[in-house]
Amino acid sequence: MNYKGIIEKVYHDTKRLENHGKIATYIPELANVDPTMFGVHMTSLTGEGFGIGDNLEKFSIQSIAKVLSLTLAYKIVGEKIWKRVDVEPSGTRFDSLLLLEINNGIPRNPFINSGAIVICDILVSHLGNAKEEFLAFVRDVSNLPNLTYSDKIADSEKAHGYRNVALCNFIKSLGNIKNDPTEVLDFYFDMCSLEMNCQQLSYTLTYLANGGLKISDGSEIVSKPQSKRINALMLTCGFYDESGEFAFKVGLPGKSGVGGGIVAVYPHSYTIAVWSPLLNPNGNSYLGMKFLEEFTTQSDFTIF
Ligand code: DON
Repeated sequence: MNYKGIIEKVYHDTKRLENHGKIATYIPELANVDPTMFGVHMTSLTGEGFGIGDNLEKFSIQSIAKVLSLTLAYKIVGEKIWKRVDVEPSGTRFDSLLLLEINNGIPRNPFINSGAIVICDILVSHLGNAKEEFLAFVRDVSNLPNLTYSDKIADSEKAHGYRNVALCNFIKSLGNIKNDPTEVLDFYFDMCSLEMNCQQLSYTLTYLANGGLKISDGSEIVSKPQSKRINALMLTCGFYDESGEFAFKVGLPGKSGVGGGIVAVYPHSYTIAVWSPLLNPNGNSYLGMKFLEEFTTQSDFTIF
């Protein structure tokens, strides 16, 4: 299949659409991003790649990093992890407090903010220095030895992240945060501050299309059943209250971030990262969703 031709065509068609999205303004550092940026990069399991547009410009991956923190925590604690966080779609916004009280502080899934904060708590409990060890893990998975957290983004989040502070304290009061909330949040905000470009991001998640194995050397990042479950969670929970719509329109497991990035996984074949900073009302990239819908429709590269 001529996937390069399809990516080029769909990229240009999507770029022509009127973009109805809005930039994330909840922290000043994200509000400064050029709203016209639009990049796409696909990486196949043979390591071959194809990118277009602003695919080599780095951006804040935000919640997409939650796939990596879940991967590390799942690798460390195994199935016990599901006692602390559930595996059901939430049907609510990514930063909602709504269901926590009813569910006794057990977040609906690891990708909404509450769930990702509990995952950070688990990592703080199991690692001597969660920030350093998580970064080392991501450097290894991504083959980016110089990757660092963005202090500007993290500081902006730390100064304005009132809802996340509320979420962490609320879960602590319900008994599902074991460490000091300040320490957990500090790690959470750093985790969300990672920056990559579309090429790096699509490469980083190839292990999820490859049964948990790193494509460069075959080393195991997570086991095959764990990779299956992470993909299942991306399919059912990767887009918050728009997860059903993403599965319906795109037909792939994926994960979005408020920086405007989306990465999608076609098991046994490829990963694709798209970035356009203007977001739809659910906090997902407006053009990114449109691009992926058209791309999987025209290419048949979809699990359905
Ligand atoms: O914690 C937050 O709210 C942000 N750092 C991340 C949220 C996010 O990326 C939601 N994604 N669409």
